[in-house]
Amino acid sequence: MRTARRVLWSSTIDTLDEYVRRRGGAGLEVARRADPEWLISTLEASGLRGRGGAGFPTGRKWRTMVENRSTLEPTTVVVNGAEGEPGTFKDRSIIRRCPYHVIEGAIIAALAVDADHIVFGMKKSFAREVTRMRSAVEEVVAAGWADRISFEVFEGPDEYLYGEETALLETIDGRYPFPRLAPPFRRGLERVSRRHAGAAPRTGLSSRVQLAGPQEFLTAPPALVDNVETLANVPRIMARGANWFRTLGTEQSPGTIVCTVTGASRRHGVGEVMMGTSLRKVIQMIGGGARRGHRIKAVLPGVANGIIPEDLLDTPVAYETMQAIGSGVGSGGFIVLDDTVDMVALSAGVSRFLGVESCGQCQPCKLTGLALSEDLRTISHSDAGDHHLEQAKARAGNVADRARCYLAHQHQVVLQSILSRYGQEFDDHVAGRIGPVEPYLIAELVDIVDGKAVVDERFAEKQPDWSYDESSTGKNPADRLGQNRFGEWSFRP
Ligand SMILES: Cc1cc2nc3c(=O)[nH]c(=O)nc-3n(C[C@H](O)[C@H](O)[C@H](O)COP(=O)(O)O)c2cc1C
Ligand code: SF4
Repeated sequence: MRTARRVLWSSTIDTLDEYVRRRGGAGLEVARRADPEWLISTLEASGLRGRGGAGFPTGRKWRTMVENRSTLEPTTVVVNGAEGEPGTFKDRSIIRRCPYHVIEGAIIAALAVDADHIVFGMKKSFAREVTRMRSAVEEVVAAGWADRISFEVFEGPDEYLYGEETALLETIDGRYPFPRLAPPFRRGLERVSRRHAGAAPRTGLSSRVQLAGPQEFLTAPPALVDNVETLANVPRIMARGANWFRTLGTEQSPGTIVCTVTGASRRHGVGEVMMGTSLRKVIQMIGGGARRGHRIKAVLPGVANGIIPEDLLDTPVAYETMQAIGSGVGSGGFIVLDDTVDMVALSAGVSRFLGVESCGQCQPCKLTGLALSEDLRTISHSDAGDHHLEQAKARAGNVADRARCYLAHQHQVVLQSILSRYGQEFDDHVAGRIGPVEPYLIAELVDIVDGKAVVDERFAEKQPDWSYDESSTGKNPADRLGQNRFGEWSFRP
């Protein structure tokens, strides 16, 4: 069994010169000579799908940007490097080994959609990757790769929602990471959209963006948001062609995917595999399979898709096949669960993560989400009656009501999948046949060191109001709507 080598380089590329010696820059050369229509059709023909989680066709997204460009202001390219999905560490791994193909892909995107500004949306706490990206951008600029384009490496907060693309734009614009009610394409950064009107920077609400009138729609430029791994694929597609890209992967999910394996596997790590490789093989190749003396019980593909029980591990990792079993590829982060894992404790951990990270703009998502996580904690403590379980099922059914963004749907999808597949364990806790267990810690990854994932343990102290105080104020994070961050959006002390 071999891993693939398209976007996760086998060794670290330290300088732009070294990158060029390894044929880096060839995609940009082709792109400079081509017209935007050729770039977009090539990307469409390649079938590349976004690796940030949703698997949306990247070429189609670029075309939508061009079709909805502003007549007055250029588009902006935003590279989503927020990487907050629990169990995922692939974007940081890609940047650590080679930031240059991410930058090259972003420049090609800028040429295709006629953008003059590229923002790398990263997290302040990703100090190592931020430093690496900054120096790589300086080298690229000094080498004259992008004379007409300006660059910004933005250091955002640790909040999970910061990675949601409209919240990412909000944060870069100077507000809190609260999702917008989104149009099908993204209207972009206020700095740009207000410039032509000579207006002062807006100090207000994300709702103003959502309520932007027809006039602003014509003038405000779109922002193209693509994930780090998505863009890392672009240079070679341009240099070698769409058909080359399709030589690996499946018809509907061409190419490779960079996966992270953590949890109850022998080792933790990141590796690139062909799309269509079975999940069992992915876990074997990257994680070495189950720990000695244990068997795999299930796999959790992050907190956005349904749980995958052991009997479905032979499913190919591809968008269409994972969807067919009621799950999804997500961002390729697979948390292995073995026979020691209590599924009620797992569901309580997932529910706490999503309840706490919810911003509270939609009441069911925050209030029902937190109440659901409390129900599940009570059940995991074997301190519950039948009504707790009935209540939890009902809450899982309406946590996503009137939700503005996908986070609430994630809560519903993941919880309902665990409840339906492992209902017996919930019944056993309620009946006292299983003793009390503490909720499983589900949180973002800080690093993977010597084959061992470092999970953000401080998340255990994070309050629903996003503070790290001893108790929560009871307020929603979204109660800050209307305030600007001015540097104080980092909620961690
Ligand atoms: C709650 C939430 C968190 C997300 N976090 C990330 C993230 O950390 N990184 C990312 O690339 N996409 C994240 N996404 C997906 C983005 O909204 C968006 O779909 C993606 O950046 C688009 O890029 P792609 O088409 O290249 O995948 C998140 C989505 C949601 C709903
Ligand atoms: S669905 Fe949840 S996370 Fe998304 S905007 Fe509404 S409250 Fe915030």
